[in-house]
Amino acid sequence: MAPSSLNELSQAVLPDALGAAEPIIRISGLEKTYAGGFHALKSVDLSIRRGEIFALLGPNGAGKTTLISVVCGLVNPSAGEVRVDGFDNVRDYRQARSLIGLVPQELTNEAFETVWNTVSFSRGLFGKPPNPAHIERILKSLTLWDKRDNRLITLSGGMKRRVLIAKALSHEPRILFLDEPTAGVDVELRREMWEVVRQLRDSGVTIILTTHYIEEAEEMADRIGVINGGRIVLVEEKAALMRKLGSKQLTLHLQVPLDAVPASLAGYDLQLAADGSELIYSYDGAEEGSGITALLGDLDAAGIAFKDLHTRQSSLEDIFVDLVKERP
Ligand SMILES: Nc1ncnc2c1ncn2[C@@H]1O[C@H](COP(=O)(O)OP(=O)(O)O)[C@@H](O)[C@H]1O
Ligand SMILES: [Mg+2]
Repeated sequence: MAPSSLNELSQAVLPDALGAAEPIIRISGLEKTYAGGFHALKSVDLSIRRGEIFALLGPNGAGKTTLISVVCGLVNPSAGEVRVDGFDNVRDYRQARSLIGLVPQELTNEAFETVWNTVSFSRGLFGKPPNPAHIERILKSLTLWDKRDNRLITLSGGMKRRVLIAKALSHEPRILFLDEPTAGVDVELRREMWEVVRQLRDSGVTIILTTHYIEEAEEMADRIGVINGGRIVLVEEKAALMRKLGSKQLTLHLQVPLDAVPASLAGYDLQLAADGSELIYSYDGAEEGSGITALLGDLDAAGIAFKDLHTRQSSLEDIFVDLVKERP
């Protein structure tokens, strides 16, 4: 991957300085009920900031693809509004859509077409005049240049995915949607995809990716939105999310295993683990006064000795599991 060539893309995609603070996408009161009566999106409000990587995290069936499809104008909303850089995505469909590139969840490619032709053709679909120099920049930035005359059927899985990205970038969009870009992809290819996405963001493209991999959201996102059952249940800066919701755990490895937590320690809501040889104490990592000093004092008073102890910050995974469990 040649970062310099991706940076060249930025000339084409950097947002205007004017209105830079305005969200690039504003979704309000969005509802989707499919023809069969299934209520897939429930009063979704969401704003996407210019230049960020936003991860929409949710389990299978949560409504991620539906939300993306509505924003991209592929599925009609039942109610609500989507504005893409000010353009209403229904009333001003062409303007709104031309700002967006979409890398779909399903890999569909014209197997016998060449890389060059398939990417050039995608650009034409948006009514843009041919721009071989732009196509060349994209292919080089995605290390597909050497493969430009290859038929898609001859490419590896990773290259096919990069062709999908090249197609999505062919008409110089300022926003790129990636729907589960690494679903079913091996670890190495996943890391490669992450690198490509980061470089695109650095070149000025706003990125919205959906994923059901917590690790992916944790690794990639500036902000994370969690969707479950068609509802956005949380939107947070990743760092703040980890700080605010991340509870901590203290594990004490006991000298002598316990059968039960002594009554004198009932106030700490301790858990016994590892056949009574570990005591686990959970506390809010963000709050002053964890209660650990008092706990250690009370343990001593109860005659409970420990060999060692360690603490652990809960991960996004714990938070996610809690959210999805609590609000079905
Ligand atoms: N065309 C459709 N008609 C009826 N129901 C659909 C349609 N597409 C998706 N759904 C349903 O809407 C829900 C959300 O689907 P989807 O947006 O694909 O979720 P995700 O991408 O998060 O896995 C699922 O229960 C799915 O079965
Ligand atoms: Mg999906």
